[in-house]
Amino acid sequence: MLVSHVKIVILVAGAAQLARAHTAFTNFFVDGVDQGDGTAVRMSNNIQQATFPLSSVTSPDMACGVNGETGVSRVASVNAGDTLAFEWRDWPDASQPGSIDPSHKGPCAVYMKKVDNSAASNNAAGDGWFKIMEDGYDSTAGKWCTEKLIPNDGHLAATIPHDLAGGYYLVRPELLALQQADKTPADPQFYVGCAQIFLSSSGSADPLNTVSIPGYINMSTPAMTFNIYDQPMKLPFPDFGPPLYTAGSSKRDLEARAMVQTIGLKPDACVMENVNWCGFIPSSYTNETGCYAASQNCSVQATDCYNSAGPTGSKNCFNWENFCTQIRNGCGAGNYNGPPSISSFMPAPLPKLDLAAVVAASGPMAISNSAPIEASSTVSMEAYDSATTAMPAPAAMAVGPARQGCVVLLMDTAVRLRITVARGVSLNSATALEPQSASAGTCDSTDTSFVVADFISEVGKIQEI
Ligand SMILES: *[C@@H]1O[C@H](CO)[C@@H](O)[C@H](O)[C@H]1NC(C)=O
Ligand SMILES: *[C@@H]1O[C@H](CO)[C@@H](O)[C@H](O)[C@H]1NC(C)=O
Ligand SMILES: *[C@@H]1O[C@H](CO)[C@@H](O)[C@H](O)[C@H]1NC(C)=O
Repeated sequence: MLVSHVKIVILVAGAAQLARAHTAFTNFFVDGVDQGDGTAVRMSNNIQQATFPLSSVTSPDMACGVNGETGVSRVASVNAGDTLAFEWRDWPDASQPGSIDPSHKGPCAVYMKKVDNSAASNNAAGDGWFKIMEDGYDSTAGKWCTEKLIPNDGHLAATIPHDLAGGYYLVRPELLALQQADKTPADPQFYVGCAQIFLSSSGSADPLNTVSIPGYINMSTPAMTFNIYDQPMKLPFPDFGPPLYTAGSSKRDLEARAMVQTIGLKPDACVMENVNWCGFIPSSYTNETGCYAASQNCSVQATDCYNSAGPTGSKNCFNWENFCTQIRNGCGAGNYNGPPSISSFMPAPLPKLDLAAVVAASGPMAISNSAPIEASSTVSMEAYDSATTAMPAPAAMAVGPARQGCVVLLMDTAVRLRITVARGVSLNSATALEPQSASAGTCDSTDTSFVVADFISEVGKIQEI
């Protein structure tokens, strides 16, 4: 097996300790469905260094990482409003558990860029990047975004704004680890990669607040030298990059154009996958020549599988190779009718991700781009004092004006949204609607009047519970 991470041995008080590697974006989930290790992902092809931070905040690698200008063959199919979850791993092949070392504290963000073809090369660095998710320091929880990844199995969620124009996009999760940012010289550590997607959407939005990557930051950007060890820290954390794009914010509308994905789809005959490799069943045979031809065909595919595996490993290539062995053994035993069924060699199906848990752990921004609650939806809301009252069961919630305090929105009985409004702020102010932790216990029940429709139209940031 190839070594997929770098082990650094440090001697501490006479005992050998293994320092954990850094982190890499290895795979992503579309509405909870794992696309596969490395599938439709641009990542470093350097197995030993895939988890290393980028060398410089102004490097072209800042766009999609080392090797990030090289398109891969697969493109994931995504619908407008879908939530993506990006998985970060200490060990890209998941040979050991872990997402990121706890010392690596800092913010996360997710950017997108519209491209002609997300599987094409040389389209990452440069202008056109807009931000759809950001999460810095959560002073309520006392945690950086990167710290929330750890109990969350390395998953970072972001919802695709529902009004974006359809087409091919690169989606770029970004982590910034600040544990060396206070040093001289400062060493802010970026980890990025890109997912190649095709977005099916009836929307037409083309966000206006875009930046060039690299170019959007340099070492003078305040966040690059932010001291996470200050007691107390100099909050708020100075966000960087463009303002967040949420559905309906600063945009122009592209001409409506129905688009259908033609690039990067999984081929119909593809029976097994590993990263961006696909296995195809060799032609059926009824004699010795055909049997050995199928065996040869299978082995050539196995070699391609291993050669294309990269940092996330070659788990499914082993399965494929075992299938080839069965064919070859059959030929040797004079069984010239085949090929045999592949079913017993298939890898176990990838488990579905509990997206609700990821969204909850990723913070409120993760679903700030969800489809708006339509005025025609069944919306119930009720204020309650979380300090003294348990959250009402959905059935018990009455339709009607809410009050200051904890507000629960119930949409079509399936989606529950809870917003905690701080004491003394008006619910009519969109800026007052920063959701807080559900357990904050700081709500009161002072009456305030507002109209449900106004509330809905003004809520830009909501938290699904
Ligand atoms: C760093 O970025 C700032 C803001 O964009 C810019 O004014 C400044 O010239 C940049 N510095 C360098 C050294 O490029
Ligand atoms: C193996 O056989 C399949 C099915 O006939 C074919 O599509 C594929 O191109 C062959 N691959 C190689 C490497 O010969
Ligand atoms: C083996 O079978 C193939 C068809 O699968 C046929 O074209 C070929 O002539 C056969 N060869 C021999 C030696 O019978």
